[in-house]
Amino acid sequence: MSDARDRLRQYLEQRREMGESEFVLDSMSVDDALKVLASGATRAAPPAPVRSSGDGPPARGAPAELPRASRTEGVTEDWKSIVGAPDGSEADKPKAPKAAKRPKADEPGAPVVIPPELAAAASLADVAKAIAACKACSLSATAINHVPGEGNPNAKFVVVGEAPGATEDELGRPFVGKSGDLLTKILEAIQLKREDVFICNVLKHRPPGNRNPTDPEIAACAPFLLRQLEILQPKVILALGTFAAQTLLKSDSTIGQLRGIEHTYHGIPLVATYHPAALLRNPNWKRPAWEDVQLARRILDRA
Ligand code: URA
Repeated sequence: MSDARDRLRQYLEQRREMGESEFVLDSMSVDDALKVLASGATRAAPPAPVRSSGDGPPARGAPAELPRASRTEGVTEDWKSIVGAPDGSEADKPKAPKAAKRPKADEPGAPVVIPPELAAAASLADVAKAIAACKACSLSATAINHVPGEGNPNAKFVVVGEAPGATEDELGRPFVGKSGDLLTKILEAIQLKREDVFICNVLKHRPPGNRNPTDPEIAACAPFLLRQLEILQPKVILALGTFAAQTLLKSDSTIGQLRGIEHTYHGIPLVATYHPAALLRNPNWKRPAWEDVQLARRILDRA
């Protein structure tokens, strides 16, 4: 029992670090819950959480809301064997926290403008050529290769990461380092192969030393991603990590606040989750990441 209590305390502390202060459908705050835990007092079990993006239909995280049997059923064991068991058992699983802020849906007329020459790019290969020729920021001068993205030109599932790392820069391919290995396993856990999906990044050239991208670099690259998505017309986007999620959703919220719910990017359903590199560092995030990719899979299945 004290083990379960310790896990719950760790979980709550982690949620608090990520800026979350409230439970859903419960008057008790995270701080209050931590105080109760510290004092050893007990409290009646609160009702099950209901989560919604707040901008549209309720989030489709709850099994009862599924429009039809999910093709992710039965893959939990696969996930465990692939990425390792999520921490904690079902019995001591704490409630999912409420997103602290309304997610910002992308509106028509959003500031990303596709220049006419890029709008004329009719295929992903054309966009890749335009990326190869781009000199709009200094990254093309420091990078070895451009990394436009790769995958199925008819993909209905698109993965968007932050920016190429060293291995990706050397090979001109996205997510081929350690994070990429984990991403491949995550996709397999929801019965997708790399060749089924399209994988790309917000930035198409590596920032030197993997430093954070600057606002002008993001602005220079944004039309490429948007044009890729216009061509692909995916049914769901999986945004990996804080940077991709905040950039696509034009939000300052933490990834802990943005994950777990369905957003939209230019009308396309978007699910944000932890970056594979973060999962490698913090196994506590495997459980929420698993919930997120299952949500993305359900959105794909309902399409
Ligand atoms: N991290 C990313 O965000 N993208 C990659 O392509 C590789 C690592």
